[in-house]
Amino acid sequence: MRKKTYVQVGLGGRHELFRDALLGPFSRWCELVALCDINRGRLNLSRQRALNQFHKEIDTWHADQFDDMLLSIRPDYVIVTSIDSTHDDYICRALEKGCHVITEKPLTIDSERCRKILETQRRTGKTVKVAFNYRYSPVRTQIKQLLEQDMIGRVLSIDFHWMLDTIHGADYFRRWHRQKKNSGGLLVHKATHHFDLINWWIDSLPESVLASGRKRFYTPAMAGELGLTSRTDRCMTCPEASVCAFFLDLKRNSNLNAMYAECEHYDGYYRDACVFDNLVDIEDCMNVIVNYRNGVKMSYSLNAFMPWEGYIIAFNGTKGRLEHKLRETVYINADGKIPAETEKDGSWIWFYPHSGKESEIPVRESSGGHGGGDDLMLHHLFGSPVETDPLGRAADHIAGAGSILTGIAANRSIKERRVIEVEELIAGLLKGFFKKRQS
Ligand SMILES: NC(=O)c1ccc[n+]([C@@H]2O[C@H](COP(=O)([O-])OP(=O)(O)OC[C@H]3O[C@@H](n4cnc5c(N)ncnc54)[C@H](O)[C@@H]3O)[C@@H](O)[C@H]2O)c1
Repeated sequence: MRKKTYVQVGLGGRHELFRDALLGPFSRWCELVALCDINRGRLNLSRQRALNQFHKEIDTWHADQFDDMLLSIRPDYVIVTSIDSTHDDYICRALEKGCHVITEKPLTIDSERCRKILETQRRTGKTVKVAFNYRYSPVRTQIKQLLEQDMIGRVLSIDFHWMLDTIHGADYFRRWHRQKKNSGGLLVHKATHHFDLINWWIDSLPESVLASGRKRFYTPAMAGELGLTSRTDRCMTCPEASVCAFFLDLKRNSNLNAMYAECEHYDGYYRDACVFDNLVDIEDCMNVIVNYRNGVKMSYSLNAFMPWEGYIIAFNGTKGRLEHKLRETVYINADGKIPAETEKDGSWIWFYPHSGKESEIPVRESSGGHGGGDDLMLHHLFGSPVETDPLGRAADHIAGAGSILTGIAANRSIKERRVIEVEELIAGLLKGFFKKRQS
């Protein structure tokens, strides 16, 4: 059997998961042929690491040469792991050149770009897979199965609250994510995972969205309250480094130093910007009310300045209530800590029937990146072609669009102070694309 060929664009922290999977355990079925990035330092670094670790020489192409790369190599797949605002461009250019696409979440950051991707996919007929690793973590699969077993009957409403802590959560305010033009804000960049889980768990799509959001914590005023009076725009040069709880020492961590500090001079991007900077324009405190096509109602919140990270969710059904709390220690690119394992003590599932006694359901064990989701997802993306998917965990362009439309609608709702009908975001297209999925 011929190996499938891959190229990858965007060579930051996240890309290594895919590169190492293709060069390592999945090299039996897959071949990574080229790497592409806008930053020549990270191009060289990734090439060198592939050589050192896997003894594989890989072609490198600057982002300006993306089309030439595709024409020259004609890969089967393009893997997109560049920053969020660039996804649509690379996805569409890859599809136009006859390639299939695997993209990191979010599919894209606004409705115009989403429309462009859906139209291009429809016209070219090529596949777009979205790397929704959260779906694959054992406990989230467990929740899907519990709901499908009809334990609480028909789900009528959901209470969902996500906490980002001041270690991992704060990182979004240091990096490119801190500006909406790059990431769409946390309601798109981060909550795409959460809204995707909901769409998948209840097998539906958002219909209307009302939201409010503000920046309450990562502000110059808060820095003042914390006594940080002589901040500069980044940690590396900041005189408050020794007293600031948010100080990130890029140079102290060898990986962060090699991947970011030593690559700054190529493009001027630094990954240790001050979290209290005026330039931060994303919200850190958000509330969203969503009505789904199948009648389910959800109340959701996302706060990015919490003492612990994870979520609490409750599904309210016709026969009872299912509550689930998950405490995460996630990938912390900031200090290079080992990826996440679920903190078992802090996680639980409880079932409350309308009649009868409540019972605790043991949480399914997991280990590895993103609660065990990363490895399983890689297996699905790159593993043996005969792999089946009875729970529908593989996410396509429809799932990708469905997951960002809630956040995009929420962003618009915050701006225009009104309820947004999701249909109005990608009118017409939505009908065609989502007809099959309506429930
Ligand atoms: N599924 C997950 O759990 C998960 C986790 C982390 C990141 N991600 C996603 O992965 C993607 C990358 O995130 P990251 O953490 O690696 O960020 P990063 O900042 O470490 O890397 C981004 C890379 O994109 C490159 N880039 C920027 N503009 C570009 C352009 N125009 N053309 C080509 N390359 C460009 C940068 O030079 C950098 O190498 C994002 O879309 C993010 O949402 C997903």
